[in-house]
Amino acid sequence: MFFSKSNSLARILHLLCFCFSLTINLSSEANIISSSQSLSGDHTIISQGGKFELGFFKAGNSSKYYIGIWYYKKLHFNLHTIVWVANRETPISDRFRSELKIIDGNLVLLNESKLQIWSTNVTTTTTTTLNSATAVILDNGNLVLRDSGSNSIEPFWQSFDHPTHTWLPGAKLVYDNKENKSRLLTSWKSYEDPAVGLFSLELHSSTKEYVSKWNGSQQYWTSGSWNGKIFDLVPEMSYAYIYNFSYHMNENESSFTYSLYNPAIISRLVLDVSGQLQQQVWSESTAEWAMFWSKPKEVCDIYGLCGAFGTCRQTEFPLCNCLTAFEPRSESDWNQSDFSGGCVRKTDLQCGRIEEKPDFIMITVKKLPPHNSVAFGSAGECGTTCLNNCSCNAYAFVDNQCLVWHGDLLNLLEDGRGKTMYVKVASKDLPHHKKSNLVTMGAVVVCMAGVVLVWGCLVKTQKVRSSLVWLRMFLLGEVISLGC
Ligand SMILES: *[C@@H]1O[C@H](CO)[C@@H](O)[C@H](O)[C@H]1NC(C)=O
Ligand SMILES: *[C@@H]1O[C@H](CO)[C@@H](O)[C@H](O)[C@H]1NC(C)=O
Ligand SMILES: *[C@@H]1O[C@H](CO)[C@@H](O)[C@H](O)[C@H]1NC(C)=O
Ligand SMILES: *[C@@H]1O[C@H](CO)[C@@H](O)[C@H](O)[C@H]1NC(C)=O
Ligand SMILES: *[C@@H]1O[C@H](CO)[C@@H](O)[C@H](O)[C@H]1NC(C)=O
Ligand SMILES: *[C@@H]1O[C@H](CO)[C@@H](O)[C@H](O)[C@H]1NC(C)=O
Ligand SMILES: *[C@@H]1O[C@H](CO)[C@@H](O)[C@H](O)[C@H]1NC(C)=O
Ligand SMILES: *[C@@H]1O[C@H](CO)[C@@H](O)[C@H](O)[C@H]1NC(C)=O
Ligand SMILES: *[C@@H]1O[C@H](CO)[C@@H](O)[C@H](O)[C@H]1NC(C)=O
Repeated sequence: MFFSKSNSLARILHLLCFCFSLTINLSSEANIISSSQSLSGDHTIISQGGKFELGFFKAGNSSKYYIGIWYYKKLHFNLHTIVWVANRETPISDRFRSELKIIDGNLVLLNESKLQIWSTNVTTTTTTTLNSATAVILDNGNLVLRDSGSNSIEPFWQSFDHPTHTWLPGAKLVYDNKENKSRLLTSWKSYEDPAVGLFSLELHSSTKEYVSKWNGSQQYWTSGSWNGKIFDLVPEMSYAYIYNFSYHMNENESSFTYSLYNPAIISRLVLDVSGQLQQQVWSESTAEWAMFWSKPKEVCDIYGLCGAFGTCRQTEFPLCNCLTAFEPRSESDWNQSDFSGGCVRKTDLQCGRIEEKPDFIMITVKKLPPHNSVAFGSAGECGTTCLNNCSCNAYAFVDNQCLVWHGDLLNLLEDGRGKTMYVKVASKDLPHHKKSNLVTMGAVVVCMAGVVLVWGCLVKTQKVRSSLVWLRMFLLGEVISLGC
């Protein structure tokens, strides 16, 4: 087959045009927002090396939009991996009428009514900064605010100092010695809501360790102390020949940071919605995030994960369930893996009304949650004590002690071989309670009647003295007793 000269020229021209349009596209992909520009709708800015992109995004199936940073889509196919969120508590619904722009030296987000709903909140004093501030998205995923008028490239604000749920290589989670406070890595509320969730990670400078907390108070995991090479309780770090870890301390702050020896490897540390800390590595071959390590290893060890009266089963889906006679407080939250609302009784306890006496369900848990008080008496008296006290939610009789719980029960890890406790429920919520009694009673009545019948027959047949009839009656009796 032969091509005519003009045909191949056309092809070459076409290729040239294609290359040309490609360069135009690349050069039009800006990485900055200057004071004369704004970003809205589907516009994005892309870091110079094409690693990260900033713009509006929608979390999961929700209809709300946020300003965020994600890995540049062309590298990660269509997987939208968000690494930072600006307005996590204040979403907008119309991204075309909202604007991200620089006003008086700050990067601000204006909503549909052009009202400020998020700001970098820096108090800038110099007039040059006020006029020449520029926001730049860098190849490490850091969004920085700089004064383009001065020669200094030091940012006066950076997203690395305000992390959300992702800790990128190069960022540091700092403990400020003057404020006695650590910066926090915080989980999302659910996979569709990037608002601050219940879990956080912080640095304790006195013990040189990272600590995971539930609701800002209850500690559920620690990294162990920094020993100069790794954190004691994360041995996985020592296999990590791909990471360069470093811990810094001076009179003002303590901090830890990590980077990758090979910059081609893509890795991130995420505090998941479940409260689990996950070090992930991008796998080019499968186009997925692979888990390098996760802590705590057992998700059920995360404090409060399943909320009040919820139980956790490590290998099941969904991870959390409600105790018998309880139901999720919010089913839609549970559908998005936000279990924090926990469970509530299907029927409230009508406290003090004798005709609606509550009942107890027995559960076996790996570990008893911390109890509120100890009462005196035998096992039976222990139950009565709980039954008669409206605020009592559960009891257990362990080592001759009566343990009583009054508030919400958290962290119930069901385990057949564990400790037994009794949880108070409304008796009408135990569906098989009355019905099964009736069924049993019915069966007993039928069997009794059968026995009487056979007995009656036997007595009668005694007169007949026929061995054949004896045999028949014996068989009938067997059939009836089998039925019972
Ligand atoms: C969004 O909805 C679709 C269909 O309703 C479902 O298949 C998908 O899992 C949902 N995505 C998320 C993140 O919930
Ligand atoms: C814009 O934000 C303001 C202040 O938070 C709020 O009162 C207003 O309702 C928002 N406008 C829209 C259209 O959401
Ligand atoms: C900025 O400051 C205002 C007022 O001090 C505060 O309400 C707002 O939450 C701050 N915004 C951010 C993003 O820190
Ligand atoms: C921080 O802690 C130190 C020593 O414990 C104390 O002297 C200092 O007053 C604290 N600062 C603040 C802001 O709480
Ligand atoms: C978290 O703590 C706050 C008080 O610090 C409390 O009001 C809130 O109910 C707690 N949340 C949960 C889910 O227990
Ligand atoms: C490891 O990280 C430290 C601190 O960030 C840096 O000074 C050092 O050069 C890095 N080492 C290598 C081999 O990249
Ligand atoms: C600590 O902070 C002070 C005051 O902000 C500053 O002068 C000093 O250089 C800082 N020290 C270090 C080691 O960065
Ligand atoms: C939650 O999910 C279940 C099953 O997937 C569904 O039947 C139910 O309607 C959902 N509830 C809400 C409130 O979205
Ligand atoms: C129920 O128990 C609580 C906590 O132990 C106690 O303060 C309260 O007085 C008890 N109520 C009754 C009616 O015994």
